Amino acid sequence: MGDMTVSNQALEFLEFVEQQPRQSVRQLMDKVLLKSRLMTGAEAGTIFIVRKKGQQRWLEPISLQNDVVRIGSNDFIVPITAKSIAGFVAGSGEIARIDDVYKIPPKRTYSFNPDNELSNYHTMSVLCFPLKNYQEQVIGVVQLINRRINGKDDPMPFEDEQIQLVTPIARVLATHIERADMLEHIRTKNSRLRQRNRELGEQRAQVIAMQAETEEAFLLSIQLLARASEIHDEGTGNHIVRVNEYSYFLAKEYRMNRAFCDEIRYSAQLHDVGKMSVDVAVLKKKGGLDDAERAEMDKHPIYGHQILETAPRLNMASEIALYHHEKWAGGGYPFGTAGEDIPLSARIVAIADIYDALRSERPYKPAFNHKKTIEIMLKGDDRIDPASHFDPNLMSLLSKHHQGMNKIHRRLKD
Ligand SMILES: [Fe+2]
Ligand SMILES: [Fe+2]
Repeated sequence: MGDMTVSNQALEFLEFVEQQPRQSVRQLMDKVLLKSRLMTGAEAGTIFIVRKKGQQRWLEPISLQNDVVRIGSNDFIVPITAKSIAGFVAGSGEIARIDDVYKIPPKRTYSFNPDNELSNYHTMSVLCFPLKNYQEQVIGVVQLINRRINGKDDPMPFEDEQIQLVTPIARVLATHIERADMLEHIRTKNSRLRQRNRELGEQRAQVIAMQAETEEAFLLSIQLLARASEIHDEGTGNHIVRVNEYSYFLAKEYRMNRAFCDEIRYSAQLHDVGKMSVDVAVLKKKGGLDDAERAEMDKHPIYGHQILETAPRLNMASEIALYHHEKWAGGGYPFGTAGEDIPLSARIVAIADIYDALRSERPYKPAFNHKKTIEIMLKGDDRIDPASHFDPNLMSLLSKHHQGMNKIHRRLKD
């Protein structure tokens, strides 16, 4: 066999290694060992990988093959010392070629330990070479055992030819091992990261579920609070829920941002919460109120504000409670505030509240239908003067979109 043949075979081997799909180091080494044995005629072999922990270094068998006897456990390691063949090669970076391991010349540092022989197997010739990376570090060792040539009874020694065959591939092999090892390392790390992400995702879902529960509890509490304030009113039914929805509708038509719309949708219902603090005798009195009683009744915006002002999430609600009886032109209560000094939320709720009052039956009036209600709100009657009571911008929205109010009433009617 000439040099040309040798390099062709080496090339073929390199191509073989290059063609291997991404796979585990172990799978790659199994194929590499098999290919090396076929090229050199070795009937058995082992590939070791150098493992490190701190200052400690040892060889771990990663692929073991034997065509003659069954391999027992691969659960052993080889210390990197000059006493064993593989250990010597790993430590020195040199190639070891032994024609008969039972007749190693005494000048060598290493020897063969017969205790390591597989049962019913007889090791004779060995070719052991290092796998070095580009930094000349030994990262593994290939040990080929018992070269067989067809027709010969005994294993033959490994020749220069076999050394020339395997040496050029050793370096490429080493980089492949490093690359595969690194890939495996990255893959393990990635799968750990994915696992961690999954766990975080689950925790996040739990937090979101808890937040949703808290939010639901919050909304329920304030609805109960709003209902509690109606306890002395007769037959208000869904009034508070409808006022929420009319206000939400008007705020959206006014192109307010989402946070505002969402907040007014639960805040509007609390507009009369202050009635809880009004003297029950005044609240329940049938017929007209005298001046003192009227003054007490007209304090319900201030009472409501006092109840709500402490909670940050009820800022808008406390504002609505305080200002929902103010009038655009002034003259409302408790302060007589006018125009844009009245918060928008309260201007919206004032309209929503009146619309629903007109649609509902009261001791002093029947329930009006939508058409009549809108007519009164836009043109006025003996009690309502739209131009002086309501925000004109909101009123022009109402005149355009009043059917939306009707729809809400139909959906939530008592
Ligand atoms: Fe009120
Ligand atoms: Fe009301």
